[in-house]
Amino acid sequence: MCGIVGFVGARDGVSILLEGLKRLEYRGYDSAGIAVVGEQQELQVVRCQGKIAALEERLQRHPLAGATGIAHTRWATHGKPSDDNAHPHRSGPFVVVHNGIIENYADLKSALEQEGCAFSSETDTEVIVKLVEREWNLGKDYLQCVVDTLRQLRGSYAVVFLNEKRPHELIAARKESPLILGLGRGEYFLASDVPAILPYTREVVYLDDGDIVCASREGFVIESLDRGRREPNIHQIDWNPVMAEKAGYKHFMLKEIYEQPRAVIDTFRSALDFDKVQVCLPDLRLSKGQIADIEKVFLIACGTSYHAGLTAKYMIENMCKIPVEVDLASEFRYRAPLMTDRTLLIVISQSGETADTRAALQEGLDKGALCRAIVNVVGSTLARMSSGVIYTHAGPEIGVASTKAFTTQLVALYLLSLQLAYSLGRMPQEELSIHIRELLEIPGKMEAVLSGCAKVEDWARQYMHAKDFLYLARGILYPIALEGALKLKEISYIHAEGYAAGEMKHGPIALIDEDMPVVVLMQRGALYEKILSNVQEVRARGGQIIALIERESDAKVGGEDDQLVLPEASPWLSPLLFTLPLQLLAYHIAALRGTDVDQPRNLAKSVTVE
Ligand code: G6P
Repeated sequence: MCGIVGFVGARDGVSILLEGLKRLEYRGYDSAGIAVVGEQQELQVVRCQGKIAALEERLQRHPLAGATGIAHTRWATHGKPSDDNAHPHRSGPFVVVHNGIIENYADLKSALEQEGCAFSSETDTEVIVKLVEREWNLGKDYLQCVVDTLRQLRGSYAVVFLNEKRPHELIAARKESPLILGLGRGEYFLASDVPAILPYTREVVYLDDGDIVCASREGFVIESLDRGRREPNIHQIDWNPVMAEKAGYKHFMLKEIYEQPRAVIDTFRSALDFDKVQVCLPDLRLSKGQIADIEKVFLIACGTSYHAGLTAKYMIENMCKIPVEVDLASEFRYRAPLMTDRTLLIVISQSGETADTRAALQEGLDKGALCRAIVNVVGSTLARMSSGVIYTHAGPEIGVASTKAFTTQLVALYLLSLQLAYSLGRMPQEELSIHIRELLEIPGKMEAVLSGCAKVEDWARQYMHAKDFLYLARGILYPIALEGALKLKEISYIHAEGYAAGEMKHGPIALIDEDMPVVVLMQRGALYEKILSNVQEVRARGGQIIALIERESDAKVGGEDDQLVLPEASPWLSPLLFTLPLQLLAYHIAALRGTDVDQPRNLAKSVTVE
């Protein structure tokens, strides 16, 4: 969703702001804009509908120069994508960029209109800057104008203001939308996310809800809406700028797919005690006593992270014998979920900023559940709201379609499951040691899958024009079928459905004909024979089978060209292997169809509004 960048310092602000916007492109957007205060202390704004390249073209015709400035990529909510609705929005000497939704904007707008204010956009954002100007015209101090404006707003916001009359200063604030302050030497950065500022600094303050920051070349202060000061917590980011670059790959998504073995190692390395052969998750902050009391586990997430939760239900229920409910964050709080202080609620999120997931976590906190988070972005909102956290160590994920975040979430959830089962006395040390050994073998097997996937490109060429795909699986691979279908939908725009194979006869079988590719995920074990029957049912109706199997001896599934053999792994870890060819299939089909793989239409990486 909307990306914000702000810079105050002595350098060329325009190039820093544009570079920052490019590094936030992955968030998804439909227009872009920039404002700086020029050398003659005049405010200059350039904005347009479309990509950052369109903004750069416009900047060639209307070059800007200035040190202090703000920039924005907009993901439309109120008002269609257009030049007029693009940020920054201006009123008098002020401009603002905003991420979030002002829920009472219509009331505020009509009150301002009655006072004679004219609006030039359909956005909720424009009321913010109009209100600041109104306060300013009352003769108030600049910061007080911002404070008094924010007090009138209902909803969510991350905002950064630039004032022509105070050309070396930025004021920023947040409520329920992400915003960070990057600390340089005599210069400061504001951004929606870390990658925007990685080339310049790795010292960051995560702003909290209700924070207002005033930054100038001389320093910064953080206050709250009641004007009390707060001491900043400065975090060191251990990502480096290269991690957020393509490194020779055509797309970020492809790079991130191939990074998975490394990301998985990074995720389990810090969580294993190799001497004692144990799992240690100190940041989770769950005592043995708390674990012993757990009656129920909720796993809550959106999108791909939700599929990780669905997969983990199989692990946790089987290993720990605790009932697990998996919920979509957007549904959870509206169904009056039953929770007590013996409920463990875990939110799963790559960004740590998803609005629905955050609201679900708040529901858990309000109802007194034990609330924990599995997130990728250190210091993100969900991490800070929860009493404990497991970090996935995927590194920055830039492709909108989640890949390495998913597999590292599966590893984090596997570690959690082992920890709970062992602590509850439901998994003896010998069994734990076997699970850990199997985990240690997984990155090598993932490497083997990735290097043996040439056939997937052939499938992509063969099926790139299909209108629909069906993905079938059973048991713990069923959520992986859902994830495979989601990946294809997201980036290739081909309709795809994931189905529990046993349900096929209750509906999707009616769709099967010679134009329908059916991807089947076939795990060894109790359900193998059953899914084999489903394959025969598809074949009997002329459907095209693409089979992922675990052993060469399963060749009876179909012809050599229709199947890919994956290394065998324990049932709980095989989802990590089956996921990879599905990601690559979606990637290659999308690349062949020429879609915008890293920034698919209408999607946002981090969905910070409800
Ligand atoms: C968006 C992204 C998905 C992601 C989902 C949840 O829809 O496009 O890739 O899975 O949000 O995001 P989160 O950051 O909470 O995992």
